[in-house]
Amino acid sequence: MQDIEKLRGLLVRLGSSPIVISPWLAYIKQGVEFEGDLFDFLYWNARDYATEHWREEYVAQVFGTLPVPARVPKTAIYETAISTALSLAYNHSGDPLIDKSSADQSLAFLDEFVQEHGFDQFVSLYSVITAFENYLAIHYYGEMKESDFVYGKLHRPWIGYTLHDELILMQAMGTVEIFLRDGVRCLRLTELGRQRLEAIRALLNSTGYTETRSNLLRISHFSEMEDYESVIRYLGPELSKWRRRLLELAHIQEGMHVLDLGCGSGSLSFDAGLADQVGPSGRVVAVDPAQKLLQQAADKKVHYDKPWVSIQMASAEDLPFPDGTFDAVLAMLSIHLTDIPKALQEIARVLKPGGLFASFHALKFPFEEPFLRDWFEPIQHVSGLPPHDHALPDETVVPKYLPLELTSFDVRTVFTPCRYDDPDKVVRFFVENVGLFNDELMTLPWTEYQSLLRQLKENGASICSRLTKEELTVEYPAQLVMARRTTS
Ligand SMILES: C[S@@+](CC[C@H](N)C(=O)[O-])C[C@H]1O[C@@H](n2cnc3c(N)ncnc32)[C@H](O)[C@@H]1O
Repeated sequence: MQDIEKLRGLLVRLGSSPIVISPWLAYIKQGVEFEGDLFDFLYWNARDYATEHWREEYVAQVFGTLPVPARVPKTAIYETAISTALSLAYNHSGDPLIDKSSADQSLAFLDEFVQEHGFDQFVSLYSVITAFENYLAIHYYGEMKESDFVYGKLHRPWIGYTLHDELILMQAMGTVEIFLRDGVRCLRLTELGRQRLEAIRALLNSTGYTETRSNLLRISHFSEMEDYESVIRYLGPELSKWRRRLLELAHIQEGMHVLDLGCGSGSLSFDAGLADQVGPSGRVVAVDPAQKLLQQAADKKVHYDKPWVSIQMASAEDLPFPDGTFDAVLAMLSIHLTDIPKALQEIARVLKPGGLFASFHALKFPFEEPFLRDWFEPIQHVSGLPPHDHALPDETVVPKYLPLELTSFDVRTVFTPCRYDDPDKVVRFFVENVGLFNDELMTLPWTEYQSLLRQLKENGASICSRLTKEELTVEYPAQLVMARRTTS
């Protein structure tokens, strides 16, 4: 396994570069848009780049004496150009729309990376990452028909090429064997193949690639739902009361300068009355990374006629405001979705001395409720463990990461009803949007992942048909945290 160990340093550097090697991301059709003819632009530029820069001597450097999948340098550049452009576009605007600037930047970053580390090294990285997808899928199914593998039917259904050459390579390495089952050619991992899968998995975990892949899953869901506001209003019928309560507890006064962090479609600023409380002599800055939700907030600003509210794209971990800007930072149902330690540092920084931080955020999913445990039981088949929520904090997390400059004076767990009687909304919101099971889902072959989502919705429908609406309404745990910025 020395060949893959040599890539350790490069994988770490990949993590801090804007390059995204994520073949599946390059082919997600649903939701990804290319402005004008940018698809062709990226496709042809990437192929031309590979033709120009790939050298004969790299072949032996990457593959030694093993059989060579000849299309790999072109595919590697092309798929990486698209997945990088998509990630750049999404991080910049919250929209999976590849525009000219993200396409140009992607090609430029790719060239920089290849120039710095070598085309052979780049192709080696790409090959290890795609090999991981292959090994994972074969391992997941135990055995696979050769034809299913070759056409990527179950694990890479988007490919416009076949995986014949990758199969021949794996056979030559001794990691996969072909056998006949009822006269049909099938394949499975050998012992060496299983060892290789585990070695690659350990390498990708320890270099941070796995975490990046998990975050990319969010892009593939295009987490902001068009009907987000009606979904959350349906699932959490009392959340509007909690928004008003948060404003009361924070003692928002006329003339204050307040940050609405993770504003979404503007429910706190407009519907709950934050803008009215600070009035025209004050100022509300409402920020969120999701472009589509910000557009809904911007529509409300016009509708409610509140020119003293400004709406802007920003993430909690990197707030584009000088130190000591705000009298209060309010985070309604958003802190749990951020990188909590980084977000809290930023909040402390942008608050004025004496300024107030108030958050109402979700805590861990209530799996102790028997019907919810049954509902999400199919997750157990994936991970071998009972469904567990990796994505949300428990009540210790936010208090623990409050920086020294933020002194908490009120921390409490509260409960608010959540309605689980609409399986489509529940699965879309908790699984796809919040990402409750990203850790488990990310190891699934693509087709299996889609079918698991369907299965969760069907399971939910069957459970919902057996219970009353009252039984399907369960108190959801949330936390209120109030803290003040020290004055010195
Ligand atoms: C459940 S919604 C809450 C929206 C709104 N505050 C409300 O009361 O309805 C969570 C919001 O947090 C935003 N969000 C996710 N990650 C974030 C981050 N890193 N920084 C700031 N906001 C984030 C989402 O885009 C989404 O709009």
